[in-house]
Amino acid sequence: VIAEAQRAVLLAASRNSRLREVVERAPVTRELVRRFVAGTGDDHALEVATELRGQGMLVTLDRLGEDVTDAADAAATRDAYVGLLGRLSALGLTEGGAVETSVKLSALGQALGASGEQTALENARAICDAASLAGTTVTLDMEDHTTVDSTLRVLEALRADFPWVGAVLQSQLRRTEADCRELATAGSRVRLCKGAYAQPESVAFATPHEVDRSYVRCLKVLMAGEGYPMVASHDPTLLEIADAVARDVGRDGDSWEVQMLLGVRPEEQARLAALGRRVRTYVPYGEDWYAYLVRRLAERPANLALLLRSLTST
Ligand code: FDA
Repeated sequence: VIAEAQRAVLLAASRNSRLREVVERAPVTRELVRRFVAGTGDDHALEVATELRGQGMLVTLDRLGEDVTDAADAAATRDAYVGLLGRLSALGLTEGGAVETSVKLSALGQALGASGEQTALENARAICDAASLAGTTVTLDMEDHTTVDSTLRVLEALRADFPWVGAVLQSQLRRTEADCRELATAGSRVRLCKGAYAQPESVAFATPHEVDRSYVRCLKVLMAGEGYPMVASHDPTLLEIADAVARDVGRDGDSWEVQMLLGVRPEEQARLAALGRRVRTYVPYGEDWYAYLVRRLAERPANLALLLRSLTST
């Protein structure tokens, strides 16, 4: 119960701008940021992606930023992705989708009034064009539950032209098993995660146990389907279940992958890659790291202790 309360407070903190200022100035914050974030600019992202490729990992790059408040910021995010994809391609990193990109539609304008969804779709389209030229894929991150319908509409529109566009689904949400059924079709890429946002009980499972059980149900649907499941979790039990379900339905190792975040269980990521498994590291980079970092801290009391230490030494 205490852990859940801590998590709720931290998730609220991820949207608090005064706390953000305090955290950004705290000395130990740098250490934490370095663990979970590749760095602030494209050069850092390219460096980390190259290093991970050298270790046999696949990579997805996420330029940090969410909830933009004007169209110019959304366009700047779009242009940054397009520029990054060009550089990745020039370095040969995008071949066969080895390095792909993840995007948050709220960073592309999704919340900008009545035309926000259309703005986000157009910006995402430009990123998909660049990814297509580079020979790689794009995956749409999933944000809080109020955005799911809109994100799935954008996914459908994009997939008409770019069938390889993927999306994230969160087992925390009651609707997700049904969404998995809809999306478990040929060519469809679905990244299944537990969900990192505070969501009301009317739409989300309240206990970790229920979220895990939902994860297993969703896994079964995705593995039995014709799409490409991307099992995004660090949870050893769920990863074992994923292996077992894949075996049961006769999937070979190239028809699905495991995905983990930069800085979380790095030894396990390297171990799986060394076994020849498809493992992708999600690598966030960029100036706007605060909300992302706080969500990572909310997942683990030990990370929270580090943050508190940093604040008391400010
Ligand atoms: P859980 O949180 O139960 O952790 C299991 C174990 O993993 C822990 O016991 C610990 O050992 C380790 N661990 C997990 N998190 C850790 C951390 N931060 N620091 C240190 N150790 C940690 N969410 C979302 O809402 N929308 C999205 O689009 C995405 N996208 C996404 C992509 C990818 C590739 C991943 C891996 C995750 C996401 N997420 C996400 C985040 C996801 O919803 C979830 O919050 C985290 O993955 C943590 O959940 P686990 O499944 O790892 O289980």
